[in-house]
Amino acid sequence: MSHTLNLYLVGPMGAGKSTIGRLLSSELDLNFIDSDREIEERCGTNIPWIFDKEGEEGFRAREESTIDDLTQKTGILLATGGGVVMRPANRKNLAGRGTVVYLRTSVDQQLARTSRDKNRPLLQTTDPRAVLEDLFSVRDPFYQEIADIVIQTDQRNPKNVVNEILRRLVENNIIDANDEDTYS
Ligand code: S3P
Repeated sequence: MSHTLNLYLVGPMGAGKSTIGRLLSSELDLNFIDSDREIEERCGTNIPWIFDKEGEEGFRAREESTIDDLTQKTGILLATGGGVVMRPANRKNLAGRGTVVYLRTSVDQQLARTSRDKNRPLLQTTDPRAVLEDLFSVRDPFYQEIADIVIQTDQRNPKNVVNEILRRLVENNIIDANDEDTYS
């Protein structure tokens, strides 16, 4: 089924955007897209390589054009990278073209979920906690600014978070609880 709903998941590294996005997209019959995977496909390489060769600014430029393209699609659930809110154009495109759900997550939880990850260049440091705390203080206001719905994800399993998002989407009249064909 095709419909015009667009959902964008934002939040820090380790918030669970990809896991929750996949589950939620199948509940809502939306096409799941992960912007980081899309950037990698377009570039033919991985994110650590892009950061290494082009720096964070090079990655952000690629991210901005990818977000601009992806937010012009309809019927998608887009999981974004944690730094997407740093560029004003991304904030404008996400806020203006769909419903933004912020998966708000404590630094402790982010650390627990990212501790063994080698694919996040910003965390390849001796003190990932300090990095995540700094990023949280800069980015949390931006996530809040563009979010239609804020969900705290700490200590919760993905299914439970998905159910809360569905409930909040109904409450906000973004989806119709009775439209069982589309949202069952
Ligand atoms: C980043 C988060 C990553 C990825 C890149 C930069 C960030 O995405 O876009 O490593 O700046 O927070 P995830 O949030 O999916 O880990």
